[in-house]
Amino acid sequence: MDGGKRIAVLTSGGDSPGMNAAIRAVVRKTIAVGGESFGIERGYEGLLESAFRPLGLGDVGGVLDRGGTFLGTSRSERFHTPEGVQEASRILRGSRIDGLVIVGGDGSYRGAQELHECDFPVICMPGTIDNDIAGTDTAIGFDTALNTICDATSKVRDTASSHERTFVIEVMGRYCGALALYAGLAAGADCILVPEYPYTIQNVCATVEQGMRRGKKHTIVVVAEGAGHAFGLAEDLGALCGHSVKTVVLGHIQRGGAPSAFDRILASRMGARAVDELMAGNSGLALGLRRSDIVAYPLQEAYEEHHQLKADLYELARVLAL
Ligand code: F6P
Repeated sequence: MDGGKRIAVLTSGGDSPGMNAAIRAVVRKTIAVGGESFGIERGYEGLLESAFRPLGLGDVGGVLDRGGTFLGTSRSERFHTPEGVQEASRILRGSRIDGLVIVGGDGSYRGAQELHECDFPVICMPGTIDNDIAGTDTAIGFDTALNTICDATSKVRDTASSHERTFVIEVMGRYCGALALYAGLAAGADCILVPEYPYTIQNVCATVEQGMRRGKKHTIVVVAEGAGHAFGLAEDLGALCGHSVKTVVLGHIQRGGAPSAFDRILASRMGARAVDELMAGNSGLALGLRRSDIVAYPLQEAYEEHHQLKADLYELARVLAL
């Protein structure tokens, strides 16, 4: 593929802070190397509706620091069928698009692989606050979400301390505890519950009581939604420990907000690299960050396994919470 090619970009799945920065980088890099760029609205759903629009340099002005995705996103069931993928590939070719950049999570990657198998050139960038994509140290939006959780946890700790209370804070992460683990470590949580490691309510209660015995003024339990829900946990914990336990469910607040500098830089580097890969005639690749470098590796490797939670970090968080 040479510089005069037409490259489209879409955002898919749950949004994450930094997606706009990624779109901006794809558009500007494409134009910088002599290509034409297009945005596809509402992810794969918009692709099936031919919702394309040309994007020029000015169309991505002022988006670098905006949360969400100005192209919109969706979780498309229609696309994830053999007919849907065929139709998408037909639409892309019919619109004379030469390559597609997808910013999204692992569900979006599976769809991208199917397009690649239809001989349509695709490159994926990890955009998910869950950071559950294998082969990359981190994903666009994860750092911002961590900062959001840390900020909220500090606020909760202030009031927890004043009232000598126990709080359960529920964070996102249906299948992956990365957000809970990293945020819990960064915010000094007393106990971190993740789907990857089993726990018992008796052990959580023992941790709370141990902290109280040594004079801790508050207890913060951070739980990933995939490991349990705040309200049920608080009820069980309260009943076992014999005092009331408060709850905070951070919910979609974690997905919004201006991207951190780290996420903006990551998205910018990956967006430009995605264009380079397509221009070089490559396809079926996922981009990742490893040892500060942007790397490209086969898409399948990215979604066939889960991002492994670092056992040493889990242990560290436990030791430092003593
Ligand atoms: O973006 C991933 C994720 O945040 C999961 O952790 C969460 O369970 C899910 O999205 C919820 O997303 P939605 O409300 O869009 O279905």
